[in-house]
Formats: sequence, structure tokens, C-alpha cells
Amino acid sequence: MAGKGMIVVLLGPPGAGKGTQARLLTRDYGLEYLSTGDILREEIKSGSEIGRRAREYVESGGLVPDEIIVEMMRQRILAAGGRVLLDGFPRTLPQAESLDEMLEKESMKVDAVIEITAPEDLILFRLVNRRICPSCGAIYHLVNKPPKREGVCDECGATLIRRKDDEESVIRERLAVYHEQTEPLTAYYKGKGVLHTFDGSLEVEQLRRRIGEVLDSISSAGG
Ligand code: AP5
Repeated sequence: MAGKGMIVVLLGPPGAGKGTQARLLTRDYGLEYLSTGDILREEIKSGSEIGRRAREYVESGGLVPDEIIVEMMRQRILAAGGRVLLDGFPRTLPQAESLDEMLEKESMKVDAVIEITAPEDLILFRLVNRRICPSCGAIYHLVNKPPKREGVCDECGATLIRRKDDEESVIRERLAVYHEQTEPLTAYYKGKGVLHTFDGSLEVEQLRRRIGEVLDSISSAGG
């Protein structure tokens, strides 16, 4: 299904299932996966300048300042050659406007915004039980999707970890920040006619199929 340019943005509260769907959709549509969360965690791990500036925001559940994020993403988006799935970017209105500006200069635009919603009790259940692979990025859930061997990644054998921001008090802070700073983006993208909203409480495969229907129609329209 890979083909011409396609810029897709994933939007939704923490734990809605963005990363889980992103891994399936990038495989199916030949998109480059750019997750600001993953990129920031890598920068923090490597002790880079960006990582040092971002650390306290990420670990406390706040947002990293817009100028750091926009600069971090600009090169990566342009290098991806116009087929990209953005997870976690944009997250504020200024970031969305910067993205539009950078795409416009390249005669590109956001083709679809996939919003995944989920109720707060489900989000908490998902995140306190989430484990991730620090090596290949695979995502597990102690109840819904446990690894075959406890604490070990099925895909690459690395030891699974719990994200520092998956502690309940930090999850609540992330949710508050989401409602205040990121939710307004739904109106922004609705106004542009590119917003598609999905129920994140659906089973993973069912949700993937529904999102796929939208991306198929964009692909066949020559997006
Ligand atoms: P980021 O890494 O982007 O975190 P997030 O948006 O809070 O999202 P999560 O990764 O927590 O959740 P998800 O929706 O991907 O859920 P998942 O698929 O893993 O950002 C982290 C931090 O970085 C931010 O707080 C901020 O500090 C900083 N940052 C990032 N971008 C920024 C930006 N643009 N500007 C400023 N700061 C920025 O699923 C969760 C669990 O549920 C898993 O265990 C999974 O197995 C399970 N699950 C998923 N889907 C289903 C399903 N359908 N059914 C059953 N279980 C499911």
C-alpha cells in the first residue's frame, strides 16, 4: 500500500493506544514512524543536550517547550520524504501551526488526523500495567498482552521496563495537561476537515481495521 506522500497525525490521551496502533499502521502503509515520546526517551537515555533539557518535563508529565520539539521534529519529518506517521506531535496549537508552516513550504499538508479516545479509568488500567521494551519499542500489558516469558521481550529478548511516567500521580498530571493543551487540537483539525475519531476501547485488531478504512480511502484518493 506504500505510494505517494501521506502525512498522518495520531492524537489522543495517554494510554489510548496510539503507540500500539502506530506500530501496525506504519507496517501496513509503509509510513515512517516518528514518536516524539520515543525520540525524547532516546535523547534522555543518551544524555544529549536535548535530553538534558527535556528530562524534567517528561518525567513529571509536563510538556517539553514547543521550540525544542519543533526543531527536533523538523529535520526528521523532512528527511522522511513525505510518508510519515506522527505520534505525539503536534501536541499544542503553536506546534500544529509550526507543522502546517513547515509542510506548506514543501507543498505538503496533514492528510489525516486519527484521534483515539478512551475513558479515564481504562487509561489508568492500561498505563499502570504497561511494560515496554527499551530496545525494540514493543509494547506489552501485564493483563491484556503479557510477554510469553515474564519480564522478557518476545521480539528481541531484552528486559522489559516500566516507564517512569507510568506512575499513577504522573499519569493524572499527563491527563490534565492533555485536556488543557492538546485537546484543543481536535477543533483545529476538525475545522480543516481532516479529523477522524475512533473509540480506543475497541480490541486492537478491530481498531486497526477501522483506522485502515480511513487510510485506504486517503491512499486511493491519491493523498
Ligand atoms: P508519549 O510517549 O507520546 O506518551 P503519551 O502520548 O502520553 O502516550 P502513551 O505512549 O503513554 O500512550 P499510547 O496512547 O501510545 O498507548 P499505548 O499504545 O502504549 O509522551 C511522553 C512525554 O513526552 C509527554 O508526557 C511529554 O512530556 C513529552 N512529549 C512528547 N511529545 C511532546 C510534544 N509534542 N510536545 C511536548 N512534550 C512532548 O497503550 C497503552 C497500554 O494499553 C499498553 O499496555 C497496550 O498494550 C495497551 N493497549 C493499547 N491498545 C489497546 C487495546 N485496543 N485494547 C487493550 N489494550 C490496549
